Amino acid sequence: MDQLLDGNQEWVREQPPELFEELGRGQRPEYLWIGCADSRIPATMITGQTPGSIFVHRNIANVVVHSDSNLLSVVWFALNALQVRHVLVCGHYGCGGILAAMSGKRYGFIDNWLNHLRDVYHAHQTELDAIKSEEARERRFAELNVIAQVHNLARIPFFQESWAARSAPSIHGVIYDVNDGQLRKLDVLIRGPEDIDPAFRVTS
Ligand code: CO
Repeated sequence: MDQLLDGNQEWVREQPPELFEELGRGQRPEYLWIGCADSRIPATMITGQTPGSIFVHRNIANVVVHSDSNLLSVVWFALNALQVRHVLVCGHYGCGGILAAMSGKRYGFIDNWLNHLRDVYHAHQTELDAIKSEEARERRFAELNVIAQVHNLARIPFFQESWAARSAPSIHGVIYDVNDGQLRKLDVLIRGPEDIDPAFRVTS
C-alpha cells in the first residue's frame, strides 16, 4: 500500500503545476471510454492523454447491459453533463472474461455476467466455431464483442435525445493488444439514429 502512496508523491512532483490548477477548476473530457477492468489497460495512459481528458467506465470484458444502472448513469452523465463528443468501447485480446466465456467451464456467480458474452458467441457461432486456432478464435470473439457492445450502447434510448439536440456523440469500437500495446480501430461507427436498427428508434 505504501508503494502506491510513495508512487503518488513521485508522480505529483513530475507533473507541471498548471495541470492541477486546471483540473481543480473542473473536468471537460471529450471522450467516454467503456473498457475492460483488466489492470493492463489504463485508458488515459495507453492513449497518451493527460488526466481530465477521458471519462471512464470499466467492467469485466467491456459489456453494455441495458439494466446496468451503474453503466447507464455514467453514460447519461457523460452525454448530458459532460457532453462528450466521442464514446469508445475498448476490448482487448487476451481478455480473461472472453476466455472464460468460451471455455465451457463453470465459474460460479460470475457465469451470470459471462452469459452476456456467451450471447455474443452464440450470435456468431458459425463464424467462431470455424476458426481452428484457439488464439485466433479468442481474438475474433473479442472483436465481435466490441462491435456487439457498440450496438448495445447505441440502443440506449437517451442517445437519441443527444443526437437530436447536438448531433453527438459518435460511438466507436477499438481493440487493444496487451502483447504489443497497439490500439486499433474496428470497422464499426455509429453517428446517429440512421445507424441503428429501426426497431430501436424512439420518438416522443
Ligand atoms: Co478483459
